[in-house]
Amino acid sequence: MSPSPRRILITTALPYANGALHLGHLVEYIQADIWARFHKLNGHDCLFISGNDAHGTPIMISAQKRGITPEALVAAVHEERITDFAGFLVDFDYFDATTHAPENQALANQIYYALRDNKDIFTREIAQAFDPEKQLFLPDRYVKGDCPRCGANDQYGDNCEACGATYAPTELKNPVSALSGATPIQKHSLHYFFQLEKYTDALKKWINSGKLQPQIANKLAEWFEVGLQPWDISRDAPYFGFEIPDAPGKYFYVWLDAPIGYMASLKKLCATRKDICFDDYWKKDSVAELYHFIGKDIVYFHALFWPALLMGSNFRTPSAIFTHGFLNLNGQKMSKSRGTFITARDYLTHLNPEYLRYYFAAKLNSHVEDIDLNLTDFVQRINADLIGKYINIASRCAGFIHKFFAGKLGELTASSIRGELNQDPHVLYQHFIAAGEVIAKHYEQREFQHAVREIMALADLANQYIADQQPWIVAKDTAQLAEVQTICTAGLNLFRLLTLYLKPILPTTALAVENFLNTPEPLTWQNSQQPLFNHLIQPFKPLLQRIDPESINALLADTSKATATL
Ligand code: MSP
Ligand code: ZN
Repeated sequence: MSPSPRRILITTALPYANGALHLGHLVEYIQADIWARFHKLNGHDCLFISGNDAHGTPIMISAQKRGITPEALVAAVHEERITDFAGFLVDFDYFDATTHAPENQALANQIYYALRDNKDIFTREIAQAFDPEKQLFLPDRYVKGDCPRCGANDQYGDNCEACGATYAPTELKNPVSALSGATPIQKHSLHYFFQLEKYTDALKKWINSGKLQPQIANKLAEWFEVGLQPWDISRDAPYFGFEIPDAPGKYFYVWLDAPIGYMASLKKLCATRKDICFDDYWKKDSVAELYHFIGKDIVYFHALFWPALLMGSNFRTPSAIFTHGFLNLNGQKMSKSRGTFITARDYLTHLNPEYLRYYFAAKLNSHVEDIDLNLTDFVQRINADLIGKYINIASRCAGFIHKFFAGKLGELTASSIRGELNQDPHVLYQHFIAAGEVIAKHYEQREFQHAVREIMALADLANQYIADQQPWIVAKDTAQLAEVQTICTAGLNLFRLLTLYLKPILPTTALAVENFLNTPEPLTWQNSQQPLFNHLIQPFKPLLQRIDPESINALLADTSKATATL
């Protein structure tokens, strides 16, 4: 298909290292994993990396609550996380344990010095809420009080959930620290700012070259309209982060070094592999493609701050940023208080990871849309599509091949055409091959929902072919047995192509099918054009089971039990 291999680096947002992965996170990690697997299957030189985001006040506080160091907390979370990613078949080439690492610090300092040399950094005193008991400056989310507009109680320092007002924490009535309950005082301190507004024209030009989805580009146009503001990149001690090299007691705000973690992660990977080189991906004139998958809540950081930091420090900028929407559960926001936050771990206890991968793929497209995990629809969809349509093809054909032909496939002879021309197995097979191009295009454009629709339409055709040819009837006449072999050979070769097309989504099943069909090598887009003829296959074992709705009830019971103890 694709003539010359491309060099591609794919990242996902670095999840904060202070809590369990949940199904919302997995929208992103599964989406990016499918995309990375697709490119690898097409022979591209593709790396897929991410890591834990270790810094910031919430992680510092979580660690304090548990009586451990932030480093120990991050290490413990990392262990769980790599197990969860493996469980969901999210196959990172490298998942960095922590952003709190010398490689990241060196890059953060390098970038900071470059910005300072450009005169992009200035300092200014600001007043901020300070917890006099904990002796700590309070991020907006850690100040609670009554809404200055509607008076609703117990609202966060940045916005009111009752009336939707946004405001500064200093405007809250009767403010308290969410950490100690103490009344915060206003305290002045010196902060470091990055002059983002200096990059307005460069950013506009960058954005206009098609790096963002139209919806996101429009959002940015609104921000440009209002005018970009200097960005506060420093925090005062105590803070879990990197000390600013020429400013003792001041730390980089977590969002300064977090995206630099993308670079550090690759740097660490390069240290273990001779065949890849950091500069090939990050130097200014790099021809490698660089893509960041992110959620819609962190666009500002990725589409404004991050490219501006890179421009200011003479690195390359991303080729594109792919933003996705949020996951809802049964039409509602997942919520800890309602006990509907399904963790990756709980899901894996009850259900097959490939089912969620398939369900997300069937719903994902290139737009920034929220996606709904409707559990009733989930069960129906998996049982109808994967078991009823896809796996069904193999289970209908394999038995005959073993019963009458000692496990050997035959050929697609012309004599086997019964009925209409579109029932000619050659024609059908060629139709499947041609559809592979269309499906590949959908994958490439991150229109997974269209890829899945196309694949299931092919599965319908294959099932129709078998239903029309009726091998179970033909088999009753021993004189026609050769025809049974042809029909089932066609069915299994169509099944093989469907397996290839589903392989980015269902890698474990694809491997099982490769074993079952005894394919000479793992299926790729390139090596699958020729059908398997006169070829021995393995006995058929059930590849996927139907979902028993009971397992959904058991999952939900575990989820509400687990969230009750939070
Ligand atoms: N640490 C930052 C990212 C730094 S990237 C340099 C962060 N972490 S996060 O753990 O809060 O989120 C990680 C990713 O998961 C983000 O892209 C976020 O949008 C995504 N999601 C978190 N919850 C989500 C849903 N409920 N639904 C879909 N995606 C969600 O942000
Ligand atoms: Zn309000």
